[in-house]
Amino acid sequence: METFPFLWIICLLSGELIWGGVAQLVHCNAAERGALLDLKMGLNDSWNRLSSWHGTNCCQWSGIACDNTTGAVLAVDLPNSSGRRPLGGEIRPSLAKLKSLKHLDLSENKFSGKIPHFFSTLENLQYLNLSFAGFSGAIPPNLGNLSNLQFLDVSSVSLNVDNLEWASGLVSLKYLNMYSADLSKVGGGWIEPLNKLPLLSELRLEFCFLSGFIYYLPSVNFTSLEFLSLQGNSFEANLPNWFLNISSLVSVDIRNSWLTGRIPLGFAELPNLESLMLDYNVKLSASCFQLFSRSWKKIQVLDLSITELHGRLPALLGNMTSLIHFDLHNNHIDGGIPSSIGKLSNLQYIDLSLNNLTGSLPDSIGQLKNLVELRLNNNLLQGSIPSSIGNLQRLTTLTLASNKLNGTLPDSIGLLSELSSLDVSLNKLTGVISEAHFHSLGKLENIILSENSFVLNVSSIWVPPFQVIALEMGSCHLGMSFPSWLRSQKRVLVLDFSGAGISGSIPNWFWDMTSILAFLNVSFNSLEGHIPNPFNIISYADVDLSSNQFKGPIPLPNVNLLDLSNNQFSGSIPENIGQVMSVLSFLSLSGNKLTGAIPASMGELSLDVLDLSKNNLAGSIPSSIGNCSSLTVLDLQKTICLVGFQTL
Ligand SMILES: *[C@@H]1O[C@H](CO)[C@@H](O)[C@H](O)[C@H]1NC(C)=O
Ligand SMILES: *[C@@H]1O[C@H](CO)[C@@H](O)[C@H](O)[C@H]1NC(C)=O
Ligand SMILES: *[C@@H]1O[C@H](CO)[C@@H](O)[C@H](O)[C@H]1NC(C)=O
Ligand SMILES: *[C@@H]1O[C@H](CO)[C@@H](O)[C@H](O)[C@H]1NC(C)=O
Ligand SMILES: *[C@@H]1O[C@H](CO)[C@@H](O)[C@H](O)[C@H]1NC(C)=O
Ligand SMILES: *[C@@H]1O[C@H](CO)[C@@H](O)[C@H](O)[C@H]1NC(C)=O
Ligand SMILES: *[C@@H]1O[C@H](CO)[C@@H](O)[C@H](O)[C@H]1NC(C)=O
Ligand SMILES: *[C@@H]1O[C@H](CO)[C@@H](O)[C@H](O)[C@H]1NC(C)=O
Ligand SMILES: *[C@@H]1O[C@H](CO)[C@@H](O)[C@H](O)[C@H]1NC(C)=O
Ligand SMILES: *[C@@H]1O[C@H](CO)[C@@H](O)[C@H](O)[C@H]1NC(C)=O
Ligand SMILES: *[C@@H]1O[C@H](CO)[C@@H](O)[C@H](O)[C@H]1NC(C)=O
Ligand SMILES: *[C@@H]1O[C@H](CO)[C@@H](O)[C@H](O)[C@H]1NC(C)=O
Repeated sequence: METFPFLWIICLLSGELIWGGVAQLVHCNAAERGALLDLKMGLNDSWNRLSSWHGTNCCQWSGIACDNTTGAVLAVDLPNSSGRRPLGGEIRPSLAKLKSLKHLDLSENKFSGKIPHFFSTLENLQYLNLSFAGFSGAIPPNLGNLSNLQFLDVSSVSLNVDNLEWASGLVSLKYLNMYSADLSKVGGGWIEPLNKLPLLSELRLEFCFLSGFIYYLPSVNFTSLEFLSLQGNSFEANLPNWFLNISSLVSVDIRNSWLTGRIPLGFAELPNLESLMLDYNVKLSASCFQLFSRSWKKIQVLDLSITELHGRLPALLGNMTSLIHFDLHNNHIDGGIPSSIGKLSNLQYIDLSLNNLTGSLPDSIGQLKNLVELRLNNNLLQGSIPSSIGNLQRLTTLTLASNKLNGTLPDSIGLLSELSSLDVSLNKLTGVISEAHFHSLGKLENIILSENSFVLNVSSIWVPPFQVIALEMGSCHLGMSFPSWLRSQKRVLVLDFSGAGISGSIPNWFWDMTSILAFLNVSFNSLEGHIPNPFNIISYADVDLSSNQFKGPIPLPNVNLLDLSNNQFSGSIPENIGQVMSVLSFLSLSGNKLTGAIPASMGELSLDVLDLSKNNLAGSIPSSIGNCSSLTVLDLQKTICLVGFQTL
């Protein structure tokens, strides 16, 4: 947006108009003072925002600014911003007596009814902000008489227009925002009237229910248009080519708008384009190879994620050296990552995840010195992770999960001192992970290494430099006994040590850290011993202790999922299970040594899955549970009860 149109008259400080020293000498005239007092009478000022509106000099009232020589009122600035409280009531026609008014801001208040028609008579108005001011209904077409207006903000879900023909009268307009107003009857009819506004530089018609475009324009008059946002509409149409004639465009945002057809290659030739966001248009396609072989001279932000990009990335991608933010996730891109990517030295964010990229990660990736986030998960990448990755000193997020990467995790990873999230899960990585891998990682919060074949080799007195929140090391070989370094961690919410080759009992200090856990999976180890009672953990947590050698009575934490199957638990199922496990939806006690009867209170649980098979339970099945397996209850309660009857 442009600088404030008359900053030389007034200073805006926390939403309040403040006078400069000399200006306090001016005095407003009696007629304008009277008009403002009448305006005040109509307003509902329940928060006393207008308490300064008394006395003779209205130039000193809050929200009022005057011309510093004539004393004429130039600005009525009453937005409900900066923690203020909304005004309500009626805008009286006396406002129209302020003939010199240039600036009127009533945004975010609680006025009701329609936008007053007499606003159109404020012919000197340059700035009109009615954004979410409480007005509803049709925007009056006579606003088109405001030929001096430069800024018009009529954002509001409760406003609508039938057509925008009147807007062609706003010949001085530089800025138009109609965010969330209902323009469903306008269709493509905004284009021709707004094309008559040669000074328009920022146009925001976001979430306006626009549909369709006009494809033929005799001439493209949008000669000043720099910022165009049409996101959140339902065009269901191809992009018109005349867009490509607007050489002034700096930023184009048409996300999430049901665009179809192909992305015009001409976007790449727009000489001033810095930002193009066309993401979330699932029927919009382009050939990657063609699109990124073009100029893209000044492009900094390019988001074409969740569209239909296909084909491979050209080596010429390396010429887009202004790129800062590059998001192509969730497309159909195949082929390799060109090593020329190393030339994109300004790149801070790159997301190529959820594509079909093959080949290996180029060594040149280590040249992206400004990179903050690197996301390449869910591709078909092979080969090893280059150790040059340790050069990415600003990296906070590294996500390489769900590929076919093999080899070891380079220990240069341990140099990434800003790293907070590391996810290399679901690959074919092998080798030892040592203390060196975590050497400088003091900010690491998410460590996701699961589903590889790592061996963790750290000393028994290791104190990690990080405080991790999510620690997922399923299928990593963690050593014979329960990892003692975990004791230093005070913020763990998610812990997966499943299939980690751990035996022996869980140390007592561990049960002190479970009270904040939301996910615990230590299944498929050789853990033994008793589970403490009470077992403190967040309700709605998932707890999987299955396939170990735990014994003693079954614990009853109040959780969402409890899998104790394939252990040595014994004794009976506590009578009060129905009361103490109120949020349980999955319970498996299968494959233990439980005896006694199934408690009747179990019928009070709203279970999706219940598995009691392979125990020594006896007695009759409580009728409440018997009901669970009947089709009637299955329909009514949307529950599936897998009751194991074989030993009952
Ligand atoms: C004035 O506004 C307050 C707060 O919104 C409301 O409770 C009150 O009913 C309004 N009074 C009138 C006269 O509209
Ligand atoms: C009024 O403002 C103008 C523009 O900033 C300035 O040049 C002039 O000196 C001011 N006049 C007075 C009386 O303050
Ligand atoms: C007015 O401002 C307050 C505080 O910022 C906010 O809580 C309230 O929602 C605003 N009112 C309206 C109608 O936007
Ligand atoms: C209009 O007011 C709203 C809320 O006070 C503000 O966010 C918006 O930037 C303003 N519009 C213009 C063009 O200044
Ligand atoms: C203002 O606009 C209305 C409707 O657009 C028009 O009929 C009227 O003549 C205009 N008034 C002036 C003074 O231009
Ligand atoms: C372009 O703008 C000029 C001047 O505002 C106007 O006369 C002309 O009709 C406009 N052209 C189109 C196609 O709207
Ligand atoms: C757009 O530009 C092309 C080539 O520069 C030109 O041939 C065409 O006439 C222009 N279209 C409009 C509507 O101005
Ligand atoms: C790509 O950049 C190189 C220099 O880095 C330049 O020689 C070449 O002409 C550029 N290619 C295109 C198609 O812009
Ligand atoms: C990847 O390629 C396979 C096989 O051609 C295809 O079935 C799949 O949809 C592709 N995935 C993506 C994200 O393009
Ligand atoms: C990684 O896989 C490739 C084939 O995809 C193979 O040639 C290479 O030897 C493997 N490297 C290691 C270290 O296993
Ligand atoms: C584990 O680390 C120790 C000390 O650094 C080393 O002596 C040992 O060889 C390592 N074991 C494996 C399997 O790498
Ligand atoms: C725990 O981990 C095992 C092995 O990876 C997996 O099969 C199981 O689904 C996990 N449990 C939960 C509750 O996610």
